[in-house]
Amino acid sequence: MEFIKVTEQYQPGIALIQLNRPKELNALNKQLMEEVRDTLQLLDKNEEVRVIIITGDERAFAAGADIKQMANKSAIDMLLIDQFSTWDQIRKTKKPIIAAVSGFALGGGCEFAMMCDMIIASETAKFGQPEIKIGTIPGAGGTQRLTKAVGKAKAMELILTGRFISAEEAHFYGLVNKVVPVEMYLHEAVELAKEIAQLSPVAVQLAKEAINRSFETQLDEGLAFERKNFYLTFASADQKEGMNAFVEKRKPSFTGR
Ligand code: HXC
Repeated sequence: MEFIKVTEQYQPGIALIQLNRPKELNALNKQLMEEVRDTLQLLDKNEEVRVIIITGDERAFAAGADIKQMANKSAIDMLLIDQFSTWDQIRKTKKPIIAAVSGFALGGGCEFAMMCDMIIASETAKFGQPEIKIGTIPGAGGTQRLTKAVGKAKAMELILTGRFISAEEAHFYGLVNKVVPVEMYLHEAVELAKEIAQLSPVAVQLAKEAINRSFETQLDEGLAFERKNFYLTFASADQKEGMNAFVEKRKPSFTGR
């Protein structure tokens, strides 16, 4: 891996992917995204891994897609490069992903953070979709995911002006789960990951899938999907263990089966 660092067991059950192009503020070139995709596919298959954290460094989560790589491409070049098939594969990751964001999360960087399941931000984090300032628009889901996260008025403001918002404002608008001092953001993401890592991985996966379905379907279809996954948890030993442990007033021990 050239542009990311991977620690499979950063803590028991928790894998860490660190974006690692610090001089370019972790600008997301094609290779970096392919490395993330390949790693996530491996981690998804690794039963020892329950939760994945993606982070950058203190200065930047990622300052966007690599502008230098895109600047002189034609529309047909962009179509043929087809970078979004990589993003689509990343989106299919079954295990929960937490973005631990400090510094810039801009353009594709903001879109990448929003593609994760939860965001823990440092007080210094800045979110934005500044594509309009370089003559383009978000291309990796920003117009859709930001609008669903913060509502139409704020999404219009951010995308049409290219303004950045602080971590605190992002929290106010529901874009991020929690804001903590800069020295704590990775620690806080690990604490959240630990809480999830001790639960039934089967139930966690089915719940993630059902929540994501709410973005893709009408309510009727989403409810039917949720119901199917809910029934499916009753085929797992973890559901029997979890409910029986409750009845027997003891702590459950989940096996992932
Ligand atoms: C390529 C980038 C980059 C990017 C920063 N750099 N962002 N390189 N692509 N998106 C590089 C700079 O060129 C510079 O390299 C180095 O990182 C440090 O950046 P500076 O600009 O010197 O830092 P600073 O003055 O602190 O400003 C930080 C910044 C600014 C505000 C984040 O870099 C910036 O505005 N970046 C672009 C943000 C942006 O427009 N993102 C959206 C991209 S389009 P050198 O070698 O010059 O020192 C997009 C489309 C998504 O994301 C859809 C497809 C996935």
